[in-house]
Amino acid sequence: MLKTKIAVLVSGGGTNLQALIDAQASGIIKSGEITLVISNNPEAYALERAKAAGIAACVISRKLVGSMDAFEQKLCQTLDENSIDLIVLAGFMSILSESFTSRYRGRIINIHPSLIPSFCGKGFYGLRVHEAALERGVKVTGATVHFVNEIPDGGEIIMQKAVAIRKNDTPETLQKRVMQQAEWKILPMAAEKISKLIAKSKERQ
Ligand code: GRF
Repeated sequence: MLKTKIAVLVSGGGTNLQALIDAQASGIIKSGEITLVISNNPEAYALERAKAAGIAACVISRKLVGSMDAFEQKLCQTLDENSIDLIVLAGFMSILSESFTSRYRGRIINIHPSLIPSFCGKGFYGLRVHEAALERGVKVTGATVHFVNEIPDGGEIIMQKAVAIRKNDTPETLQKRVMQQAEWKILPMAAEKISKLIAKSKERQ
């Protein structure tokens, strides 16, 4: 069966990208192949991780191309040139327009560091999510992989994993544990699940 071609979009440290790379090496991801990493930030350490893994990488910076339209046009062109089937947002910090997400409906997934619908949507990203969970005093948080549509963190949920909050947690300790115990586990599993569905549909074409 032809493998699903995966592009991973990043902006920062790339620990979720690393989890995907490691999952491909260990055989957890076998229906898909990470063939491209795209960063909107030229300084992203995720680019170093791609290089170390021998994966093609490029930077598409909105500042450099000048507008959201030009940014998404370049993004689409790059994805098409590489025959990408599945886009995985892994710590990607740029909002994508409705025209972009509808073009790839059912073929973009994102990892969010909470149990959606809690602590998600506009303004909830990175440490802010964990600060809100601690402020609210929830006893359980976690991570969610969902399809991406025009509503921030609003797409169909694919997979979730819960993480217990400890009484002396800080936003930093909680973020780390949610990454280690949830994000880095369910993103590769979800990527494999959706890659398998796409690979099977490609086979039927
Ligand atoms: C992670 O907390 C992830 O949940 C969020 O971005 C943060 C950084 O991820 N989407 P990474 O280390 O760049 O993968």
